[in-house]
Amino acid sequence: MNQTEINDGFENIEEAYGFISDKLAGRVKPETGIVLGSGLGDFADQISDRIEIPYSDIPNFPTSSVEGHKGCFVFGRLEGVPVVCMQGRVHYYEGYPMQKVVMPIRLMCRMGIDKLILTNAAGGIGDSLEPGSLMIITDQITSFVPSPLIGRNYDAGPRFPDMSSVYAPELVEVIKKTAEECKIDIKSGVYLQTTGPNYETPAEIRMYKALGADAVGMSTAVEAMAAVHAGVKVAGISCITNKASGLSTTPLSHSEVQSVADKVQSDFQILLRRIVLLLSS
Ligand code: HPA
Repeated sequence: MNQTEINDGFENIEEAYGFISDKLAGRVKPETGIVLGSGLGDFADQISDRIEIPYSDIPNFPTSSVEGHKGCFVFGRLEGVPVVCMQGRVHYYEGYPMQKVVMPIRLMCRMGIDKLILTNAAGGIGDSLEPGSLMIITDQITSFVPSPLIGRNYDAGPRFPDMSSVYAPELVEVIKKTAEECKIDIKSGVYLQTTGPNYETPAEIRMYKALGADAVGMSTAVEAMAAVHAGVKVAGISCITNKASGLSTTPLSHSEVQSVADKVQSDFQILLRRIVLLLSS
């Protein structure tokens, strides 16, 4: 295949960037990007001076079909910090190529954010990760999904980017301290991304555990990779909504995932709000 035949969508990022810049008209220049996972979308209600842009209005933007994902960017201020929140994300299992899955992340990086906070719902593999636990992501395993960096290099970063420190240690430290200060128990561990949409088999979970994974989910890791490639610092927090397959007696369901995520909302929101402030000061 010749390079011009590869539809990598880099031009789409520029077009979407132009569209959003026109809409914002200089009213906010986000410093921190936040991606809200399943059941956490209400967090965006806390943003002041809000400007909402539905994904469906943005040219060439991948839209999500998942229940519980709203599908819009919310720009504004949180504790005075200029932010952009993604209410809902795009998943590989929806059928988009990985480059399209990370297009919204690249777009936020293009808007000039210098920090990205990723959140998700995940299954707990580690012994201490129970439904309702929060976990700071300290590292990740992406070997079971295609790299979003395959194809022509996106010139925001190098062809062969270093991934030895995907989750910025200084951000991890701030999150740990913030949780302590807010008296919110938080664990830490390694997140493994699968393609989904099916949940895992017990044998797969035993394999992932042996490989060093503490939590499993269907998003986040490729987003972190794309942001790191673009030179943006990344933090990640998982809301553990269930014990991973085979580690509890009940079968997994999306409604269980959502109802646990809903219950953890209030702790999660307090923590996230404080983190945004402390990371920017
Ligand atoms: N597996 C994959 N993704 C998930 C899970 C799980 O157990 N829980 C929430 N998202």
